[in-house]
Amino acid sequence: EMVDARIPESSRNPIIEEIKGQKKQLILLNKVDLSDPSQTKRWNDYFKSQGIKVLSTEAKDGKGIKQVKAAIKELMAPVFEKNLEKGIRPRPIRLMVLGIPNVGKSTFINRMINKNQAETANRPGVTKGQRWLKIGNDFELLDTPGILWPKFEDPHVGLNLAFCGSIKDEILNVQNLAYELLKVLRKDYPEELIARYKLDGLTSDDDEEYNKYGEPIDPVLSDMEAIALKRGFIQSGKRIDYERTGRAILDEFRAGIIGNITLERPVYK
Ligand code: G4P
Repeated sequence: EMVDARIPESSRNPIIEEIKGQKKQLILLNKVDLSDPSQTKRWNDYFKSQGIKVLSTEAKDGKGIKQVKAAIKELMAPVFEKNLEKGIRPRPIRLMVLGIPNVGKSTFINRMINKNQAETANRPGVTKGQRWLKIGNDFELLDTPGILWPKFEDPHVGLNLAFCGSIKDEILNVQNLAYELLKVLRKDYPEELIARYKLDGLTSDDDEEYNKYGEPIDPVLSDMEAIALKRGFIQSGKRIDYERTGRAILDEFRAGIIGNITLERPVYK
């Protein structure tokens, strides 16, 4: 099961627990090049505490693939031992990558098969269009990932998915989305924000500040304006270009330029 290390809970779908049956499961926290290492460690501990084996990967750069193969063998060792006792010889381990869209499943599959793609063989009994790709002598990987439905119903989850680019921006309001992201970053990653946008500081939540019309200032909007001014995102009539500012914040967050950021913390039940 592959999840996005920046949103390990929001990028899961609990249905996996039902569909996996008795099969062994490994969680891959992918895109750890973008996540906050201290939080990735906490998520690692969290999944372990749930009895699930977990590893970090950077599918894009192919990092962690070796460890994934070793961990899968370790997971399967007791099964093979039992089989050997019954006189059944070890067979290649069959793998499937599951996860919601955009977590990096296809990138990971391509990394796993690497040079072995030529050894691909069609097997009978497999859904048309899907093939088991041979990886050395130990593994066979289903060439198509299993796509799980994201949990859109929860607005908090929907926002996290949108921040990370899992929902098409065409259907989203970039300004509002960046505003919501800024809210989170102000709280959890203030130093990264200040450093990236060369701000003097962030607008305090506590001080009641008023604009020239005597209206209370929204601290999040105030910081968004400060970022716009630093970047020179001003339209004619000295109007702040919120669209462009929002786009910059979202793009830079997604590219990991604001910093290594994880948007949610594990909650132990
Ligand atoms: P999916 O099959 O789960 O839908 O995901 P897919 O592999 O298509 O990957 C979605 C995006 O995530 C791709 O970017 C991919 O390059 C990127 N990605 C995958 N693994 C990693 C990783 O470990 N780190 C980072 N930073 N990104 C990763 P894209 O923008 O759609 O394409 P491109 O920019 O790579 O061309």
